[in-house]
Amino acid sequence: MRSLRPLFDSNRRWSEEITARDPEFFGKLVGQQSPDYLWIGCADSRVPANEIVGLLPGELFVHRNVANVVVHTDLNCLSVLQYAVDVLDVEHVIICGHYGCGGVHAALRNDRLGLIDNWLRHVQDVMKKHHLRLAELPDEASRLHRLCELNVIEQVLNVGQTSIVQSAWDRGKALEIHGWIYDLHDGLLRDLTVGIRSAEEYAEVYRRVIED
Ligand code: CO
Repeated sequence: MRSLRPLFDSNRRWSEEITARDPEFFGKLVGQQSPDYLWIGCADSRVPANEIVGLLPGELFVHRNVANVVVHTDLNCLSVLQYAVDVLDVEHVIICGHYGCGGVHAALRNDRLGLIDNWLRHVQDVMKKHHLRLAELPDEASRLHRLCELNVIEQVLNVGQTSIVQSAWDRGKALEIHGWIYDLHDGLLRDLTVGIRSAEEYAEVYRRVIED
């Protein structure tokens, strides 16, 4: 088995580099974190949240799971969302999916992989909701491409429907939910333009998605 020593060596170099640039960096972080954004993304190792957007520790609050799914019974994800919105007072929640997502692909193909199949049922629900549009696409690659996008859009709607976000909007808190997708081919993010800042905008985006 490979030794994990290189990870510790690399960690030491990273810490030294950061400290060389800003000797106070870690000292300031110990005091408190005040990120401006919550990132909900895929657990995929090729989509490291902070690196993609060039943010340092302390600048991005992160929750990741397979296929960036937000489920209303997932206490883990909801707790992250509630803490970010109510305690850290973030004003932007970013749902970021990615093209070529293995979880979305497994859902699309109805693969049998084990326990994870149950989790991916949520992505299959998205697929079923949009099956007419997906069926019009010429091949599996284009269906995967579109389902990755649709999955992000549906998660944006799920976040907007949580009691946490609804309550925040009710009390007038500035809070915008964004749907983005990352392309592994060029390392670039794309905004899916389903940003929601209020209950009114939620209804508008919901209609747009349903009618599409
Ligand atoms: Co993925």
